[in-house]
Amino acid sequence: MSTLEVGPASSGTSLPIERDKRLMVASGRASQELAARITERLGVGLTEAGLKTFSDGEVYCRYEESIRGADLFIVQSIAGSAREGLTVNDALMELLVMVEAAQGASTHRVIAVCPWFGYSRQDKKSMPREPITARLVAKLLETAGIDRLLTMDLHAGQVQGFFSQPVDHMTAMPILTRYVADQMGEEADVVVISPDAGRVKLTRNFARKLGAPYALLEKQRPAQQVAEIGYVIGDVKDKVAVIVDDIIDTGGTLAAAAQTVLDAGASKVYAVATHGVFSGNAFETLASSPLSGIVVTDTVPLREGAPDIIRTLTCADTLTESVRKIFADESVSEIFAGENQLF
Ligand code: R5P
Repeated sequence: MSTLEVGPASSGTSLPIERDKRLMVASGRASQELAARITERLGVGLTEAGLKTFSDGEVYCRYEESIRGADLFIVQSIAGSAREGLTVNDALMELLVMVEAAQGASTHRVIAVCPWFGYSRQDKKSMPREPITARLVAKLLETAGIDRLLTMDLHAGQVQGFFSQPVDHMTAMPILTRYVADQMGEEADVVVISPDAGRVKLTRNFARKLGAPYALLEKQRPAQQVAEIGYVIGDVKDKVAVIVDDIIDTGGTLAAAAQTVLDAGASKVYAVATHGVFSGNAFETLASSPLSGIVVTDTVPLREGAPDIIRTLTCADTLTESVRKIFADESVSEIFAGENQLF
């Protein structure tokens, strides 16, 4: 079965006709494993999108069955995939092409499921003459024809404001908090660390869930992709530090943060984050850092060669429940009992 159907069969000729609802899920090539986890949980097959790359690098898509009248959920994080030979820009273009094809094939609604919303970190001008790429990608998706976006732990919640269509902003923080609570037990003297001022609210709520204190790091970026951590604000002495971030990209922030926290007296340091982008030399940087363990979710597939300290948890349950509720027009924030607004 490739669709989930609800509602009475439309029969007879008198109006109004109640439309049968059909849920369909397609996947871009950057998110195939996650899409498979979602369809397995939903109990539907994946709708084949017939994706190809032409010899000049252009992307082609043709859905291999009718998607007319369906709510089509297109799963694609805006991230490169070494295995598929895709750059982040290929993944974005592929998503746009899939949305365009779905629009033209008379779907009822097209929902982009982008657990990792690439380009979201450029969400304001930090210097004159820079682009705001988060806004650009929002415009591109809406121009291609999405009816809504389902995403996770945006770099800044305000990115939702670049969309005029609804955005369902989910969070993996409950998954990560639960994991840390289970691993650390009640005996460990834990302190939760925010790697920069932008994460304080998230860190405070994470710490509150664990019943632990939190501390903050003073971070500067002297150049793009270079992180310098100044000092720790708060007490970390003899405690097990857990750094909480939204993204790990080059690993520079985490490696510097871990060293600073240990220098301030922490006994051990771990890190958790929603999105493990791990670009460039991230694996080498993190393997040679003093971090004892790193946990990320599968919003971005972990490429080969990851060091043993990295562990992945799936966020498929949260996304599956979100898809189900969007399809059924039910409240999505119920998944978190409204607490997704806390992160
Ligand atoms: C910064 O504001 C973000 O929350 C992350 O700390 C940052 O993007 C991580 O990047 P990297 O791993 O390249 O230091």
